[in-house]
Amino acid sequence: MTHLDGKKIFVTGGAGFIGSHLCAKLSSPSRKLTVYDNLSSGKVENVKHLPNVHFVKGDILDLKKLRSQEKADLIFHLAAQVVVPYSMENPIIDFETNARGTLNVLEKARKDDARLVFASTAAVYGNPTKLPTSEDYGFNPFSCYGLSKVVGEEYCDMYSKQYGLDITIMRFANVYGSRCHGVIHDFFDKINRNPEKLEIIGTGLQSRDFVHVSDIVEALILSTEGRAAVGKTYNLGYGETIQIIDLAKLIIKLLNLSEKTVISTTNTSWHGDVKTIWFNINKAKKELNWTPKVTLEDTLKEMIRDRRLS
Ligand SMILES: NC(=O)c1ccc[n+]([C@@H]2O[C@H](COP(=O)([O-])OP(=O)(O)OC[C@H]3O[C@@H](n4cnc5c(N)ncnc54)[C@H](O)[C@@H]3O)[C@@H](O)[C@H]2O)c1
Repeated sequence: MTHLDGKKIFVTGGAGFIGSHLCAKLSSPSRKLTVYDNLSSGKVENVKHLPNVHFVKGDILDLKKLRSQEKADLIFHLAAQVVVPYSMENPIIDFETNARGTLNVLEKARKDDARLVFASTAAVYGNPTKLPTSEDYGFNPFSCYGLSKVVGEEYCDMYSKQYGLDITIMRFANVYGSRCHGVIHDFFDKINRNPEKLEIIGTGLQSRDFVHVSDIVEALILSTEGRAAVGKTYNLGYGETIQIIDLAKLIIKLLNLSEKTVISTTNTSWHGDVKTIWFNINKAKKELNWTPKVTLEDTLKEMIRDRRLS
């Protein structure tokens, strides 16, 4: 990663789940790293122990503050409202953060003439009819979250075409690892509270492509090497899909609770929930020379060891 030495790097949302893992990898005496986060869901503890990280509590909606930060060479824009059901209940707040917030970050990039990597999502595809889904599928969002990320992507495209900014769009599937939120975290929490039952929200028949946060971080960094990824969009997933009911069964099996835990489902999904996420990742493999390495089962075992659940 020597290509980033001497660079001033600015990470929005750096105190969150993925951002803090990225900052842990980037932090080095040879780089100047600023984390800009309003701590709405992130925690300063996630980054404050990292050497050479300058933390700024700030909102991406505060354009004045954002633009008054030191000039950056490279911006990773991860700050976002990330919860699909919340976006359906609060579409305006979701739009503000993900669409206008992204536009503000692009304005900082324009002022600084900085390179930018934008964290997008599988939600831009909605319920794709083509599986595994490739980057050229097109947009068909099924939630306000997906739509606000489409707007973010479109502004990235506009800034790249009209202002010549160097931008890469990364669409993440379901990211997991330490400090993650979402279904895996939810299952562990529920079993911790009561190992006799595990309730799945929805039918359990939804399926997801789970990719480990360390693989995401590696791809984000690889995308900033040379110019191959400039102006491009990549799917970052594992390239496999698993039904949520099978994920639940797997976790229970690894915990040796198959005889004890009863799985049930609420049978009603939340507003904006999609049926299947399954990425075709050939483009990232070929052009970024990236392959996801971490398997779901190995990580679940590790998480179980860490949580002393088995
Ligand atoms: N976790 C996943 O599975 C997943 C999947 C697809 C895409 N993504 C994208 O990856 C990025 C990071 O997601 P995450 O899972 O780490 O979420 P996260 O909630 O852990 O991190 C988001 C961070 O952004 C900060 N933030 C939110 N609004 C802000 C604002 N207005 N100003 C400044 N900071 C703000 C939060 O405090 C938090 O630290 C997001 O853009 C998300 O849409 C995540």
